[in-house]
Amino acid sequence: MSIPHFRSADKAASADGSGSAQPAKVTLPHLQEKKRQGQPIAALTAYDYATARLVDESGIDLVLVGDSLAMVVMGLDSTLAVTVDEMLHHTRAVRRAVRRAIVVADMPYGSYHATIADGVANAVRFVKEAGAEAVKIEGGRNRLELVERLVDAEVPVLGHLGLTPQSINRMGGYAVQGKTLRAIDELMRDAVALEHAGAAAVVLEAMPREVASRITAQLSIPTIGIGAGPGCDGQILVFHDLVNLSFSRPPKFVRQFGDAAALFRSAIEGYRHEVASRAFPAEAESYHLPRAERLALEESEMEREAEMAGAGLAAVR
Ligand code: KIV
Repeated sequence: MSIPHFRSADKAASADGSGSAQPAKVTLPHLQEKKRQGQPIAALTAYDYATARLVDESGIDLVLVGDSLAMVVMGLDSTLAVTVDEMLHHTRAVRRAVRRAIVVADMPYGSYHATIADGVANAVRFVKEAGAEAVKIEGGRNRLELVERLVDAEVPVLGHLGLTPQSINRMGGYAVQGKTLRAIDELMRDAVALEHAGAAAVVLEAMPREVASRITAQLSIPTIGIGAGPGCDGQILVFHDLVNLSFSRPPKFVRQFGDAAALFRSAIEGYRHEVASRAFPAEAESYHLPRAERLALEESEMEREAEMAGAGLAAVR
């Protein structure tokens, strides 16, 4: 396994010459500093080398290898079935691609739900075997002991509140959370408790913007929203939603910034058409024998044909 060398977190001058310092390597303290300075954090999911490279080279601060890969990459109905080994496999691919952004691995369902010891051991695997710089777990006050133990084990941890897809069976569907005063109070308590337990940031998913803004104001750690409005310290989207590769009606909070499905379809159809019409591959896309070898080959084929024709004639006589 290859985990790339992490470059130092030294600050480099901005490429645009504006003088605004961009870190050569984003770290959790940088995210904290961004919150302090009111600079939005841009986060995105990625699951493979190619897209992770594009995400990283575009200047995204945080790359999450989300368990959403169960749905958008593996075609499953929910996130529940993806395993630790599958998540490790994708995290390694992303790790090899990402130089600047912070790489966070999602702990899949079942990897931290039985015992705290299991949770710590699985989280350590993401750091040790896949090069993750932090892990994300879903839940609030029910996860405090785990958060504390992970921090003790030097594994930075992000919380995830609101719509927590691993709770699909309990919730009975993917619905906006935090819509009653009681639910808002629960969310606020969860967020504050996660911060006190040592969480490095909290993802807020699918909740009214007013609620996410209040949580963000209450916390000193960054909040990263998805369907939680503009008042969060940062935003995250699922890569496949961003570029129209999800094959499902996107939730209200998704904005498609590109249409990779249209791009891929047109490339694939063009290829199929040109294979069918023999327009592909062209001369320029083919390898050729050097002239001397081609002539020798043609000559030897002609001699063989002549010999076979001679042998045929002798047999007829
Ligand atoms: O798995 C995932 O992609 C996530 C994001 C939606 C935050 O948890």
